[in-house]
Amino acid sequence: MTRRAEQESVDVPVRRAAAEAHPNIALVKYWGKRDRTRNLPAVPSLSVTLGALWTRTRIGLEPGLEADRATLNGEAVSPPQLARVRSTLDCMRALTDCRWHAQIESHNNFPTAAGLASSASGFAALVVAAAHAFGLELEAERLSELARRGSGSAARSIFGGFVEMACGVRSDGADAVARPLLAPSDWPLEVVVATTDTAPKTVTSTDGMEHSATTSVFYDAWVARADADLLAAREALAARDFDSLAAVSEASCLKMHAVALAARPGLLYWNGATVDAVRRIRQLREQGVPVFFSVDAGPQVKAVCLPGYGERVAMELGAIPGVGDTLVSGLGDGARPLPWEPFP
Ligand code: DP6
Repeated sequence: MTRRAEQESVDVPVRRAAAEAHPNIALVKYWGKRDRTRNLPAVPSLSVTLGALWTRTRIGLEPGLEADRATLNGEAVSPPQLARVRSTLDCMRALTDCRWHAQIESHNNFPTAAGLASSASGFAALVVAAAHAFGLELEAERLSELARRGSGSAARSIFGGFVEMACGVRSDGADAVARPLLAPSDWPLEVVVATTDTAPKTVTSTDGMEHSATTSVFYDAWVARADADLLAAREALAARDFDSLAAVSEASCLKMHAVALAARPGLLYWNGATVDAVRRIRQLREQGVPVFFSVDAGPQVKAVCLPGYGERVAMELGAIPGVGDTLVSGLGDGARPLPWEPFP
């Protein structure tokens, strides 16, 4: 922190703040909502937070602003994303006397909206920065609840390491929050992110879930089995049982995509390189490399492996035609405030 920034953070009443959050990869997937208005998940989920990728967000509350404004990597955010930002901030304004609107600037160090969980780190960073700017002292659980209003997976990015998200039963959503299970150092797995396409996905997670819930014949079976998958993943974590975690994670991923594929019309998030990377990961495992795959609502492939195997897996995946960048990440910490620096 510069001397000036340090001085200001002490002397100036907090009306501006900054925060950083990391995206997460769900091993047990969230796919489907029990309430769209409050954004309540229909199933529980379990994720790992990725240390190497981040969103950094600065927020300034200004009395003269007529509406919240937001940019991401220097560009105005899309109208649907801005609407979510505004409604998340409305929930926070309702907790304070401050009615000021916000000027928000976010930066991602990874492709946005291409199935790399940019909304997860984005909304987690937003609520942490905004809570600070509004002068709200909130427990992590409440921050998780607010982040969930913006994007379900963002509730998990409030925490680091291995994180569980409850679907809850309450209609107000107060129990649909995440909680940390293991710190990054408790089981320092590595995650390789293999990018196969950097274009934004054509069907967002929100729309894909809605379409799956209303048209996929597999949707009810998916919801019915979710608790059992969560339990299996929790047990695998507690025992540090990599093979069991691999089995339940790949099953959850493939089931989620099966639900989407069985929608009418079917949703196909994968491309050819996605399939090749998934096959290669299975081959590697047969050859004794401790690695499993996960794919979200986009074509990128994430390979989760035991410590020390990330570079080898990244090299193998990088050699597949159609795979672009590969990146090896350790597990990351939860969202945290950053020292204020003026917008560049
Ligand atoms: C496939 O959290 O992006 O990545 O709540 O509608 O914003 P909304 O959905 P979002 O969905 C994430 C879906 C997923 C699986 C997961 O992260 O659990």
